[in-house]
Amino acid sequence: MTLPDILTRAPVIPVLVVDDVAHAVPLGRALVAGGLPVLEVTLRTPVALDCIRAMSGIEGAIVGAGTVLNRQMRRAAAEAGAKFVVSPGLIEGEGPDGPAPLLPGVATATELMAGLAAGFTHFKLFPANIVGGVDALKAYQSPFQQAKFCPTGGVGAKNAAEYLALPNVICVGGSWVAPADAVRAGDWDRITALAREAAALAPRAPA
Ligand code: 3PG
Repeated sequence: MTLPDILTRAPVIPVLVVDDVAHAVPLGRALVAGGLPVLEVTLRTPVALDCIRAMSGIEGAIVGAGTVLNRQMRRAAAEAGAKFVVSPGLIEGEGPDGPAPLLPGVATATELMAGLAAGFTHFKLFPANIVGGVDALKAYQSPFQQAKFCPTGGVGAKNAAEYLALPNVICVGGSWVAPADAVRAGDWDRITALAREAAALAPRAPA
């Protein structure tokens, strides 16, 4: 599955920090049930790779890894079953294709140019709300017509629609659909409800 295929599956990619592997499958199922099949499990906890392994068995889920900072993490994520990987920045020497397709983060025009030169067309704008948000993406539209974005970082229920209305945004990422307190409490119904609201957020730009 190509990165554009994955990024156009749903308007929102939940960014997940899972501390307890026992939460992984019910959390993933709750999000998929709400209409968000593409799940980014950040490699920020010791159990993250185990969570990716477990969640990859969820019917309908497309599980990837986030917070991938280097080539080794990319390989480990792919070996655990990640169908895509997301990085907060560009990874030196790593291109779009590899053990799993890479969505790299950019924060400036210079980084975007480096990414385009490395063959990337799809980028995570990160941290979106700090590096210019909607206004930056509007400004990138004309000089970087081939670039498509998944803004992440400070995106939530209040501003996601504004991002998704832009022609160069194909999806957004964010943690708001899986609040830590709801995960801890096992409140999967609340998470499904949040996912359902997020899944209804289209329209979005073509890949
Ligand atoms: C992150 O790195 O945690 C993601 O960018 C999510 O950011 P958010 O918590 O602001 O949605």
